Amino acid sequence: MVSQEGNQWRKAYEFNAAIGWIVALVFMFLSATAADLPTGPFWYMAVVALFFIVMNLISSWEIWSVKMALGGIGIEFMRIEALQEIAAQNPGKIWLGRGFEWKSEHTQRVYELKKVNPEDCYPPEAFLRFKEKFFGQKVASIDPDSIGAPWIHGVEPKEVDNVMALDNLIGNTLIVGTTRCGKTRLLDVMISQFIFLPGQTIIVVDPKGDKELRDNMRRAARVAGREKDFCEFSLASPSSSIRIDPLKNYNNITELASRVSALMPSSGDSGDSFTSFAWKVSNAIFLGMVASNEKPTIRKLRQYVESGVDGLLAKCLPAFFIEQESKVPDWRKKTAEYISRSVKRDKDNKMPDREPNSKEILGGYLKMYESLYRDVGIISEAIDSLTNIFHHDVGHYGKMVTTFEPVLAMLSTGEIGDLLSPDSADIEDDRLATDMLKLTDSGSIVYVGLNALADKTVAGAVGAMLLSDLAAVAAMRYNFRTKAENDSRRVYLVVDEAAQVVNDPYIQILNMAGGSGYVNIAATQTIPDFSARLGNEEKARQMLGNFNNLIALRSKDRTTQDFITETFGDTYVKAKQTTHATSSTTEKNISHFGGTIAERVGESLEAVFPTDLLGKMPNWQYIASVSGGRLVKGRVPILKEVG
Ligand SMILES: Nc1ncnc2c1ncn2[C@@H]1O[C@H](COP(=O)(O)OP(=O)(O)O)[C@@H](O)[C@H]1O
Ligand SMILES: [Mg+2]
Repeated sequence: MVSQEGNQWRKAYEFNAAIGWIVALVFMFLSATAADLPTGPFWYMAVVALFFIVMNLISSWEIWSVKMALGGIGIEFMRIEALQEIAAQNPGKIWLGRGFEWKSEHTQRVYELKKVNPEDCYPPEAFLRFKEKFFGQKVASIDPDSIGAPWIHGVEPKEVDNVMALDNLIGNTLIVGTTRCGKTRLLDVMISQFIFLPGQTIIVVDPKGDKELRDNMRRAARVAGREKDFCEFSLASPSSSIRIDPLKNYNNITELASRVSALMPSSGDSGDSFTSFAWKVSNAIFLGMVASNEKPTIRKLRQYVESGVDGLLAKCLPAFFIEQESKVPDWRKKTAEYISRSVKRDKDNKMPDREPNSKEILGGYLKMYESLYRDVGIISEAIDSLTNIFHHDVGHYGKMVTTFEPVLAMLSTGEIGDLLSPDSADIEDDRLATDMLKLTDSGSIVYVGLNALADKTVAGAVGAMLLSDLAAVAAMRYNFRTKAENDSRRVYLVVDEAAQVVNDPYIQILNMAGGSGYVNIAATQTIPDFSARLGNEEKARQMLGNFNNLIALRSKDRTTQDFITETFGDTYVKAKQTTHATSSTTEKNISHFGGTIAERVGESLEAVFPTDLLGKMPNWQYIASVSGGRLVKGRVPILKEVG
């Protein structure tokens, strides 16, 4: 049994036999025609010879075709229109290039091949060149520029379309692969197909700012007749970018404080106390803004953090007094009393002849709040929190916000500030000002380019904020909309180079995916990058546990490789062991020899996709575990405009 598999890579001896039979046939033909003998038997024999020729040629072809396939398939391009046709032929499905289902027989072939050195099994180069010409498909093994081991994809000669149900993507999909191995090109293929689905929302977060990715999205939108739905948020070219307010959506106001304080660089225990102080301050300010009907924006948050909360408190207090008018109807009269009480007297203890200043007004308000409201249980959380900050020791406050201020400055100044804190009063700015809820509800196709190559910190911070806002939208959809509603307008959220932007809210998005109608796809270079970003391995594991589909491209990192092979599981591989032994004894006579040859077929449990192959995978090729453990080997074409 083992030899059957092992024999796949041997020389096609059947071809020699076929040649023998051909020679015999020729002789029979000559004898029948040239010699003066009865021809009947020759013709009978010719039929027999023909039969063996055909049989042997078929067997040879089986061996050759397997070997021909070993050369692998090189780079392939595809027009976006062709992809659209494929998508139209597979409604409700997603096409992931071409390939085959990876079964244990393929694992077996790999193990056999490794024994004989796969490169030695390639057919002569001339054959492969002929194949390339004849089938119009690049053969990777004869392309000096090709990267990786082409024979991995070549262990199966028959390629089919790799399609899977779109619904399976609800279970979140992770794409891993080293840099420049084709992750983003695979995303191109997937994203285009999402764009072809009418009315669906597509949000692509691209920290790196891959122009090809953006252009492909735009092309797909044009081909699908959805050009109007396309919009771009770009830190690299703010002038042509839309403006998104990342603090617009929240289910609970405290989320906003978490959203901004999470941007603080965390560094050990002392770092965390700075973060929690930043949380406290921003929470007070956001509460105050909402209480005084101010729209929370990062720009305003920064103003209050830097210049103090007095102004905000002075707005909140009268707003609160109006709100509680039923409980203290004569609040206006009382306010005048309290303010006049807090006005600083002259030297001779007389009321000065001037209007009370802002400090005195605030002092009066605060006193009145304490005695007429707070003391009798009429409490405002916003005022209490703001008062707390207001009374905080100025020196200590300044020290505690030293790391928070630069973070806020980074996100609120200049062009980035304009993009993230859209000012509705500025009528000169005609760039669309929107937010994630509006975008998801309108079926938009949004490309978010974060330009991380120029500034990684800003890219990480902005990406994280937008993801947090999207998490709030997901929670809203999860809690207040029906599943049918969510499924009819799904949100396809694709995060490339995910390790640069993911955060806790993203884990929540993954968690809620099913109920909120989110289809999540994240691409990363290595698994340890996630641990580094999220702070610890446990969080990373928690996140990884939410991905049901794994698409692995070439990966060199050991931890990542182990994660992939662990996910794919093991299978039994048969191995033949041959033992030769000879012995000689002199007991009987000097020429007495004994010998044994033993063959044993054993089975061993091995990784279904051997770990070392992950490091040798050619560009644009993957091995994936999709739809509950089905393993598929595939390769995707590069999308391009013409050709
Ligand atoms: N139009 C093209 N022609 C040839 N090669 C291309 C083309 N576009 C991309 N590539 C190749 O694809 C690879 C980059 O793929 P990409 O998806 O950007 O990698 P990553 O995994 O880093 O996202 C590179 O090796 C690049 O040379
Ligand atoms: Mg990329």
